[in-house]
Amino acid sequence: MKITALICGGGNGAHVLAGLAPAQPDVEARVLTLFADEAERWTKAMEGKDFSVDCHAGGKVTNVVGKPSIVTKDPAKAAPGVDIIVFTVPAFAHAGYLEALKPYVKPGLVLVGCPGQAGFEFAVRGIWGEAAKGVTIMSFESLPWACRFLEFGRKAEVLGTKGTLQGAVNAGCTAPPMDATAMLQKVLGPLPKLLTSGHLIGITLMATNGYLHPSIMCGHWEKWDGKTMQEPPLFYNGVSKESAQLLSDVSDEVVATAKTLEEKCKGVCMGNVSHMYQWYLRCYGNDIDDKTDLYTCIKTNRAYKGLTHPCTANEDGSFSPNFGYRYMTEDLPFGIVVMRGVATIAGVPTPHMDRIIYWGQKLMGKEYLVDGELKGKDIPSTRSPQAYGINTLEALMGL
Ligand code: NAI
Repeated sequence: MKITALICGGGNGAHVLAGLAPAQPDVEARVLTLFADEAERWTKAMEGKDFSVDCHAGGKVTNVVGKPSIVTKDPAKAAPGVDIIVFTVPAFAHAGYLEALKPYVKPGLVLVGCPGQAGFEFAVRGIWGEAAKGVTIMSFESLPWACRFLEFGRKAEVLGTKGTLQGAVNAGCTAPPMDATAMLQKVLGPLPKLLTSGHLIGITLMATNGYLHPSIMCGHWEKWDGKTMQEPPLFYNGVSKESAQLLSDVSDEVVATAKTLEEKCKGVCMGNVSHMYQWYLRCYGNDIDDKTDLYTCIKTNRAYKGLTHPCTANEDGSFSPNFGYRYMTEDLPFGIVVMRGVATIAGVPTPHMDRIIYWGQKLMGKEYLVDGELKGKDIPSTRSPQAYGINTLEALMGL
């Protein structure tokens, strides 16, 4: 069966998928990029030329040639007749694509967030409304590759491909023409092997960056005395025991939320949620020198070598923390606030999440939590369930 895939985005992941998907048998790939003039630039760059992806694996580089049939910013040209839509853009851009594609949603469609990141399913159901019911929604915890584009609209590079990729599926009331996981696998090729299990909300809760970054930021800077530094401190490898403990405490709240949802909602499986320590062992097992606990997993993780706290350089050459970086501006509204929103509906107390959110919202001039409730004026700009009017367990779980 021929599959027509629509790739949404114009960055690294979109470039790679736009090259790899059409190289698979019986797959047509189209690209929709709504951002700035990316569609025009990409189309021009490809004119009369090849589009290819260099894939690094086992010390070898394979050049895969595969050209998308169209790159456009017009959903009317991109969307009709597609079987599967794959979002490969940061979460803050998802709403724009959902709005643009809404008139073209048809029963039996498969929509994939790759990665979906926290609250993907709430945004889909909130923006597509009734039409979302006929759609099979999938969300994955990351991109399949570590990748970048080398030449815009012409060439991309896969530095590494994951062996497996974890995700979840929520079947729509109209079945797609083939099993949704098999369909996406056909589009991606053999690797990574897609593993789908559990409820979609498990993937929201396992969007770990959404609480990893804010926990380390808060742990490090909460008591900052305003003194500048000679150089930016190490973000991960410089983590303190106190910050790691805060992260672990937040992770306990996430796991408690998942367990409570499973207990309260018969037939719902949240087995795809685990503590951050387990997540590190699963995802970074080969990079960690000391696996004793969460603290040592971060402190001795070679994959993080040299990565520093986001800082701005001052005129005198010193450095100050940058609280306008995505570890705050994206990871609060599209991460920990979403998890807090799910915990609220589950009825799980979250003192540690709250400590971080109160600290972060003040620095960012935002208002999410007020008097211990998610009722601040900036809630509509988050991906929390509350932003989409989802306030009951039944609505949360899509039961
Ligand atoms: P990217 O950083 O290349 O995305 C940039 C693209 O996002 C732009 O080309 C544009 O199409 C869109 N965009 C940027 N600003 C926008 C705006 N203001 N409005 C609308 N659209 C805008 O993203 P990348 O690298 O493709 O990653 C996609 C997701 O996968 C991200 O969430 C990233 O954290 C995650 N990820 C990326 C990995 C990688 O190796 N590139 C690895 C693992 C996860």
